[in-house]
Amino acid sequence: MFINTEPLYSSMIDKIKERVSKLSRPPKLAVVTCQPDPSTLNYLKSQERQAKRLGIEFAVYESSKASELKLLLSRLSADISIDGILLTHPLPKEVSEIEVASLISLEKDVEGRSPLSLGNIMYDHPVFPPCTAEAVMRIINYVTNPSGKKVTVIGRSVTVGKPLTMLLLQKGVDATVTVCHSRTQNIQEITTNSDIVVVAIGKAKAYNKEYFNPGTIVIDVGINVSNGEILGDVDPSVSEICDLTPVPGGVGRITTLILMEHTVQAAELNKFNSNTNK
Ligand SMILES: NC(=O)c1ccc[n+]([C@@H]2O[C@H](COP(=O)([O-])OP(=O)(O)OC[C@H]3O[C@@H](n4cnc5c(N)ncnc54)[C@H](OP(=O)(O)O)[C@@H]3O)[C@@H](O)[C@H]2O)c1
Repeated sequence: MFINTEPLYSSMIDKIKERVSKLSRPPKLAVVTCQPDPSTLNYLKSQERQAKRLGIEFAVYESSKASELKLLLSRLSADISIDGILLTHPLPKEVSEIEVASLISLEKDVEGRSPLSLGNIMYDHPVFPPCTAEAVMRIINYVTNPSGKKVTVIGRSVTVGKPLTMLLLQKGVDATVTVCHSRTQNIQEITTNSDIVVVAIGKAKAYNKEYFNPGTIVIDVGINVSNGEILGDVDPSVSEICDLTPVPGGVGRITTLILMEHTVQAAELNKFNSNTNK
């Protein structure tokens, strides 16, 4: 069966709208792009549509040179009218991601990308966890209680796999986690011995029914564009034996809402707004 994330999605929308209505001014998200490719532009369009629907200001800043980018991020971090900053990929080749991500202040790092944000997860004290990892957690918690369950995360990126692993290991969440990557041997042996499998590898339909036991919860993070079609990393036929998140309509749209939620939270915490909240 496909997991129906619609009720989760709708309740998140309602809660965000309510929180926005209590602020004295619209939350403002600054989106920084550097030579955006077509998929980034597409991603930004859908973020912008969602932000508008929720009453969140969405301002795009473009910068193509490393020196400009650093100045821009420092300026936005200091600008009291900006609540959240999103730095999109790809970055220019000469740019060190860790260096530029460090320039985003912790209170505005709504994407959870800075070394400080990521480090806080290690202490079980995330401020803004990376949005996709948090979206996966939200969906897992929506369908089951992960405590004590065997969860396999396939993919070890900074965006998804690594932070998700730390969130699953948090005290109170208490999953038992196995992480796989491109060099892992016998992945099938691991996935067929799991209660929950999260696939985030960026390879269309790479995992079919042979990788899962009936009844496994499968969260498909993949977004692969092929001939204009959006495909996940998991073959949709897996839904015949497992509970599978659809692509599109699964993790992606919850991730967008998490970004919006973080922006609202940043606006609520912005000390230059708090005195004027309704
Ligand atoms: N739904 C959303 O909101 C959202 C957000 C972000 C990303 N995504 C999608 O999620 C996917 C992953 O994104 P990402 O940024 O994490 O990608 P990434 O940085 O390219 O990382 C991919 C990871 O998958 C591993 N991998 C690749 N092929 C594999 C295989 N055949 N078996 C096992 N592991 C394999 C890689 O292993 P190595 O480390 O060994 O190379 C790497 O750790 C992409 O499709 C992306 O578009 C979706």
